[in-house]
Amino acid sequence: MTTITRAGESVMTGRALDAFGRHIHYLRVSLTDKCNLRCVYCMPEQMVFRPSEELLTDDELLLVLRAANLLGFDKYRLTGGEPTVRPNLAGIVARIAALPGTREIAMTTNGIRLAQLAGPLKEAGLRRVNVSLDSLDEAKFHRMTRWGHVRDVLAGIEAAEAVGMTPVKINCVVIRGFNEDDIVSLARLTYERDWQVRFLEVMPFADVAEFQQANIVTTREMIERIEAGLGALVELNDGKLDGEAKIYRLPGARGEIGFISPVSAPFCASCNRVRLTADGTLRLCLLKDGELDLKTPVRRGASADDLADLMRQAIWHKPWGHDLAHGVIPLNRIMSEIGG
Ligand code: 5AD
Ligand code: SF4
Repeated sequence: MTTITRAGESVMTGRALDAFGRHIHYLRVSLTDKCNLRCVYCMPEQMVFRPSEELLTDDELLLVLRAANLLGFDKYRLTGGEPTVRPNLAGIVARIAALPGTREIAMTTNGIRLAQLAGPLKEAGLRRVNVSLDSLDEAKFHRMTRWGHVRDVLAGIEAAEAVGMTPVKINCVVIRGFNEDDIVSLARLTYERDWQVRFLEVMPFADVAEFQQANIVTTREMIERIEAGLGALVELNDGKLDGEAKIYRLPGARGEIGFISPVSAPFCASCNRVRLTADGTLRLCLLKDGELDLKTPVRRGASADDLADLMRQAIWHKPWGHDLAHGVIPLNRIMSEIGG
């Protein structure tokens, strides 16, 4: 069936489905591979980034997002690298918010620049933020991020809350020998704060995989540590996933605790997302190398219709899920080049 949209484009309508019947309508949009931190589990200190001309410009990005819109995508999450280092971030958010099908725009950030940006971003239409915080201990946080300070992240979280980007979710990647002792104090934050503090198993990517696989802490161990320190966790949501996280509460706490277990308990069956990398490829699975180049057709003058067609065909071939259990890891990009 062909439909004429408000912008005058005609497309085959219909939702973007994959061959397993999953409805794909959530796009994670990496705005840059650059970052103002250098987390040990993410990238080397001497990381070399892509030249700017390899990244989609604002107009090119918005063209791809209009195509996504035509395919029924309604949720966007801005990622990086670190999305707040992208120039004109609030302007980009406002343009995404103005697309007819946009229902929700969120962002995953390290929080360092959030204290300045929360107001303008909220104004532009950003609904929520997930902020990474791997330790409350200044020395350990610094060792883990190489360059960061806890106070900047906390100021960013406060600013996000103050402008109403709630509930704030906190992401903590747990790494053996770096912060596995710190998860109890992070979990304790939920007594006072209405936050969802989420602990993540580290995933393996390309050159960093050896470190990541050698130092993973599993969800089971994280739960044991938190319960040993703070008592039994109460399961929420009937044990069903809330997004990617299984969620719990400490008795009497205001906030929630979540565990994201891509390695020990893959959630591929309920996957509803694909990713757009900053250099313009559609990545079908975070942990598989298969991608569709969109930048070349964009730079050759493709319309949103054309791009929507290409995307729909690629999404049909979205892999069922990752194969970490069989030793298959992504080799062509690290996390910061995909956006997580
Ligand atoms: N495995 C799991 N999570 C990761 N993050 C970055 N690299 C990895 C990895 N290899 C986290 C960041 C941030 C989000 C984008 O993903 O800390 O919270
Ligand atoms: Fe930057 Fe996030 Fe990677 Fe840390 S994990 S270096 S904050 S992109």
